[in-house]
Amino acid sequence: MKEINFSSKAIIFDDFSQLLEEDRTLLEKAITARDKAYAPYSKFNVGAAILLDNKKIILGNNQENAAYPSGMCAERVAIWRAGSEYPDMIVKKIAISAASSHTVVDKPVGPCGACRQALYEYEFRQSQPIEIIFMGETGKIIKTESLSSLLPFSFDSSFL
Ligand code: THU
Repeated sequence: MKEINFSSKAIIFDDFSQLLEEDRTLLEKAITARDKAYAPYSKFNVGAAILLDNKKIILGNNQENAAYPSGMCAERVAIWRAGSEYPDMIVKKIAISAASSHTVVDKPVGPCGACRQALYEYEFRQSQPIEIIFMGETGKIIKTESLSSLLPFSFDSSFL
């Protein structure tokens, strides 16, 4: 028997000015996408922007539904949009921002578990890490180096 420890690295930025220009631009695009979210039920708008290695930026936002479980998160809208438009793409990074009309979202909002799994599919397939940069509406910004660092013991196609 042995015990192991997991560790994953995250960088916490105080504001936009500390980001790399490429990350700042991507996050600004995520905010643009966030403002077009369709979230009449939760009032929690999420935007995502994906940078591909061909320099294209693909946007997504959450799309809710009166039958609540039929809605979809911003990150999966974006990654599936990217996958359908650019099937041979390499994904470099994804930026995410969330805001609510109920409250000020002042903590970084990371992707939910299902979105981590959906994004990880692409990271595993391309054998290259996907960086994740995420924030709320205001406040600190977090950057992590890969999906696998957010998903220990993750499930992938090698099990099938
Ligand atoms: N949501 C996202 O778009 N991404 C996440 O990672 C977490 C949650 C959306 C789903 C729903 O429309 C709203 O936020 C509230 O859960």
